[in-house]
Amino acid sequence: MMTSPEQGPALNIRPGWALPSAAYHDPAIYRKELTDIFHSGWLFAATSAQLANPGDTLTWTVGSESVVLARTTSGAVAAMHNTCRHRGCRITPDGTAQGRALVCPYHNWAYRLDGSFAGAPHMGDALTAELRSELGLVPVPVSEFAGLIFVCFSQSPPPIERAHDAITAHVGRYRAQATQITSVHHYEVDANWKVLVENNRECYHCSPNHPEFCLSNYELGMPGDSRTNQRYQEVVTRQRHRWSEQGLPVDDVSFPDGDFFRVARLPLKDGYLTESMSGQLVGPLLGDLASPDVGSIRIVTLPNSWIHVNADYVMATRLTPIDENTTHVDVTFQVRDGARAGIDYEIGDVEAVWVATSEQDWALCEKTHAGIRSAGYRPGPLSPVTEGSVVDFHIWWAHRLGIDAVGQSATTIGNEAVS
Ligand code: FES
Ligand SMILES: [Fe+2]
Repeated sequence: MMTSPEQGPALNIRPGWALPSAAYHDPAIYRKELTDIFHSGWLFAATSAQLANPGDTLTWTVGSESVVLARTTSGAVAAMHNTCRHRGCRITPDGTAQGRALVCPYHNWAYRLDGSFAGAPHMGDALTAELRSELGLVPVPVSEFAGLIFVCFSQSPPPIERAHDAITAHVGRYRAQATQITSVHHYEVDANWKVLVENNRECYHCSPNHPEFCLSNYELGMPGDSRTNQRYQEVVTRQRHRWSEQGLPVDDVSFPDGDFFRVARLPLKDGYLTESMSGQLVGPLLGDLASPDVGSIRIVTLPNSWIHVNADYVMATRLTPIDENTTHVDVTFQVRDGARAGIDYEIGDVEAVWVATSEQDWALCEKTHAGIRSAGYRPGPLSPVTEGSVVDFHIWWAHRLGIDAVGQSATTIGNEAVS
């Protein structure tokens, strides 16, 4: 690896191999990721169920940017920069709240739920009608579909129509917007965000680590994983036929042309109607589904979400990068709107598989991140059989950072020479 005192450590990226340590630990690379990935493209911010009622707000901070989402009285979601138009104070802390207005804590300037300016105390005659109309919070591009809310901190967001169409086609019948939150689990994971994404993009580790997940899920048939067998192929063919008969889309749409999303319907093992411990449903069927025989929908959006939509519940995982060594994770569970806890569902049953699986993953990610920091770390070869999607993620990441020919060309990240 080349090192230069002026340029800092070089990144020696080898296609098909794990990334070098600096990719996970160098603050300059992390800053570049915030700018070129997290502040440029679409991010999964929340589920619609987290903003179910007018007046519900949700605030989310990613690096230097922070967005306030609000369900307005019209039913739409408004998204605004969480920066007061007086002297810039953050208006609301991260998390959810309910109210009729957004009030800055510093000098109590107030904004309506759509972000427009509502009033400010003790401003004398400084605020003309014209000025008041200009003092609304700066909008953030937002898109809500299929029960999911995406934001983009860039004022010129990339197209999202293809993700909208593919995900809506798969999830529309589930009416994920008509679900209710059963619980949200918040984690602080001592690992770089890419360690979590890499972990999500392969099931190489599933069999040794995820007994609960493997009850209902095949470890075969994952994208970028060529393991299969005749019995699995027969299951896929049979189930796809049944899904088609119900008018459900069966074809995977997986990061088309390097786009940021994937949606796929996967079969569950015989005897499993959902991702539960028992195989039985853990809540009422969602939306307009007439049968639980619908497999399990997987949505992945890079850089920060994976969402499972089962016949009876939704599990949504949102990553928030905090620094190069820390990632916050929110895992949200949802069941059909109106379902009664203790009668129609038990929270523990809804959560069982994905709380266990998530916490197993965070432990693996923390161990991996710690190992990558060691002087003894050397990137190893990725499996051409099971880790094709990790390679694809590396290509996506490198492309976003302007590294066009990974392992071949030299470019610059911040002050870092990348070769
Ligand atoms: S900075 Fe918000 S009211 Fe003064
Ligand atoms: Fe895992």
